[in-house]
Amino acid sequence: MTIQHPSFGAIDENRVIIFDTTLRDGEQSPGFSMNLAEKLRMAAALAELGVDVIEAGFPIASPGDFEAVQAISQSVQGPVICGLARSGREDVLRAAEAVRPAARKRIHTFISTSPLHMRVKLRMTPEQVLEAVTASVSLARQHTDDVEWSAEDGSRTEDDFLCRCVEAAIKAGATTINIPDTVGYALPEDMARIFAMVRARVPGAERVILSAHNHNDLGLAVANTVAAIRAGVRQVECTINGIGERAGNAALEEIVMALRTRRDALPYHTGIVTQNILKTSKLLSTVTSFDVQPNKAIVGRNAFAHESGIHQDGVLKDAATYEIMTPESVGWSNSSLVMGKHSGRAAFRDKLKALGYGEIGENQLNDAFRRFKDVADRKKVVYDEDIVALVDDEVMRGNDRIRFVSLEVLAGSKARPRATLELEIDGVTKAATATGDGPVDATFKAIRELFAHEAALRLYSVGAVTEGTDAQARVTVRLEENGKMVDGQGADTDTIVASARAYVHALNKLLVKRARTAPAALSA
Ligand code: KIV
Ligand code: ZN
Repeated sequence: MTIQHPSFGAIDENRVIIFDTTLRDGEQSPGFSMNLAEKLRMAAALAELGVDVIEAGFPIASPGDFEAVQAISQSVQGPVICGLARSGREDVLRAAEAVRPAARKRIHTFISTSPLHMRVKLRMTPEQVLEAVTASVSLARQHTDDVEWSAEDGSRTEDDFLCRCVEAAIKAGATTINIPDTVGYALPEDMARIFAMVRARVPGAERVILSAHNHNDLGLAVANTVAAIRAGVRQVECTINGIGERAGNAALEEIVMALRTRRDALPYHTGIVTQNILKTSKLLSTVTSFDVQPNKAIVGRNAFAHESGIHQDGVLKDAATYEIMTPESVGWSNSSLVMGKHSGRAAFRDKLKALGYGEIGENQLNDAFRRFKDVADRKKVVYDEDIVALVDDEVMRGNDRIRFVSLEVLAGSKARPRATLELEIDGVTKAATATGDGPVDATFKAIRELFAHEAALRLYSVGAVTEGTDAQARVTVRLEENGKMVDGQGADTDTIVASARAYVHALNKLLVKRARTAPAALSA
């Protein structure tokens, strides 16, 4: 049996649509915000990964969100581009405007349906909510044939009312019906029961795609999603690395690999190019400065590491003894050792293309190549991860007002640490020397001397880009000013230089944020 869908045509009954909400539900969680360039890069990577729908943002939420959804709609080819809207007229029209340039577009409109949310949050009666469902879906349908409707807090909604809402949404023209477990409360059997009930009771349910959107507050998001698929759901909403509100959403990579690995019990398929999973995960970590935990399924550093002697022995004899999927099938390989100090500019340019930096101009390429040679001189081997770190550091920041130039640090157990720093600020190179409680403290004080500001340091963290003592350090610095939070990253084989770069990056981000709301509020 097939379903006819306005964006996908005839859909095979075992095909599961992957709806990625990394750029909407994922991006709205603390610390995961992305700027326009970062969202565009992520969207291009998601298209390459083979997701069917990209939920690109919540256009009414802010001008930045609107701009990002519109830019993604203009430039990203392949997936359906979706914008989220509450049920109000302005919301729906704003989403419609943002996705208008997309070749295939979707408006996703939602309203809460649980007794608690209707009473406390919406202060609306069930009848008013039903009217809003019909009005919002009908309005959305005037702008696109592909309309999704969601029952927020659906898993805590009364059965009869949920069925009435779903029926109203289908009658008004919704082509996808999503029933979220908004608060991550459901068990797998709850999700299976809800979807089976909707399929059995709602007229027209057989003509639409049912969708699951599960949060991970009890660690059950992926289990609930798999249960929903077994109960007839054919769209799953998920995020890379499972990022999202609070404990996050169901992780795309885990759902996809569960379907692929357990085909014996789960005879469903997706359009995901699984070999691209790891690089998409790493791109998200780089862009947001949050690494996944080492034991994270599929994409964690230890996901395919075998520590115990017994396991290592087994894997050497036959990997299948302890590996249920191959590392290569999700993009892990030993071939990320790429280049050294003798590699030329042409090879470097090819490597950048392979790593997804298609649009780099000549000047940016020259800057990146200079940094690469510098790293290659100091490091024995240069990995893909090193190149991504240095390119993100140098190339993606062409418009920054403040640029790192040089740093000299005196540190150790005898003298008080002292940092002499040069920064280029609005095209002028300035230098300052400061002392501090440690080399990082001295460096940050020198930055404050060169560029006075009130922002408070909220987080400082150091990780290694690759293995070994010559690995580049990747530093994250979080600054806060007037409730606005920004994260900056820097990478270098010298941890203090990486720290200075990260601080400068955060400062530049803060300047952009300030300029958007109150120009000139951050003093130099
Ligand atoms: O969790 C939720 O209910 C949502 C909806 C907007 C789909 O994110
Ligand atoms: Zn959600």
